[in-house]
Amino acid sequence: EETLIVDCDTGIDDALALLYLLADPGVRIGAVTTVFGNTDPATAALNTLRVLELVGRSDIPVAVGAERNWRGTRHLAPDVHGADGLGNTDLPAPRTSPVAEPAAELIVRTARENPGTVHLLAVGPLTNLAAALRLEPELPRLVKRVTIMGGAMLHPGNVTPVAEANISNDPEAARIVLRAGWPVTLVPLDATMTEAITEEQRRRLAEFGSPVTSFTAAILDLYLGFYAQHAFGERKAACHDPLAAAIAVGDVEPLLAPVVPVDVETGDGPARGMTVADLRGQYRGFPESGEATVRVVLETDRTFGDRLVDRLCAEAPN
Ligand code: BDR
Ligand code: CA
Repeated sequence: EETLIVDCDTGIDDALALLYLLADPGVRIGAVTTVFGNTDPATAALNTLRVLELVGRSDIPVAVGAERNWRGTRHLAPDVHGADGLGNTDLPAPRTSPVAEPAAELIVRTARENPGTVHLLAVGPLTNLAAALRLEPELPRLVKRVTIMGGAMLHPGNVTPVAEANISNDPEAARIVLRAGWPVTLVPLDATMTEAITEEQRRRLAEFGSPVTSFTAAILDLYLGFYAQHAFGERKAACHDPLAAAIAVGDVEPLLAPVVPVDVETGDGPARGMTVADLRGQYRGFPESGEATVRVVLETDRTFGDRLVDRLCAEAPN
């Protein structure tokens, strides 16, 4: 029995990740915690509550987390995710509210109450996880495992030439989390940029016409436009967070995922926020390394877009 705590900055692809997980009755989500990133954490919490309401799961608690990174600064992404974090769809306010308990405290308490069963799925900046480690240094022994969307290894960054957004938003926190000694699966851009959702798939969602697929098609409009302009030159977008979610629950089996040491550059030079994986072992078949605790997903089979759409269309339209 495993309980997921999803830490996210909801966000268009964060919303897709949540809907993907919520469509599987076998997946247990104990709580969702929010962090700054795509939007501010209070807005991310409202967006999360909207998503939960859409699928009748307002029983899942949502806790608000870090407003800013380890250095006290932040950068949001309204150009990618909209001013409301959900593609400027201007949805009505959710009926429910976040819980009073701060995100890091909720993570620590849940791990203490359920030792060895909590799986942390982090798809935003790692500030809440680092804060939880500071509150409870034993956390790596209390938590079962951690799955993170973040980083760029052999693939270019998406914020700087070498840094991916979740890591770049808080490199200090990322360094703490990746070196805490717990079993981490890291899903970087190397995998997520090759798993796209296309305009054709968005249309399939719109035509299916269920509350979930209509919502998904609506929030994807701005996201596909951003990716067309800044990345792929056509209306298709990367499935970052849903891919990490699918890997976390074992739906997608990576084709290449060596366990290697990973560090993060925290200096102020051009490499700030770069994830540095020791991939030299690939020439010798990736032997086990003593300090290696991070399983880095470098390759998946590039069929995830369809699997995501199939999953969201699985529910009967109503
Ligand atoms: C990551 O940054 C955020 O914009 C996305 O939600 C995803 O988690 C991609 O770099
Ligand atoms: Ca995210």
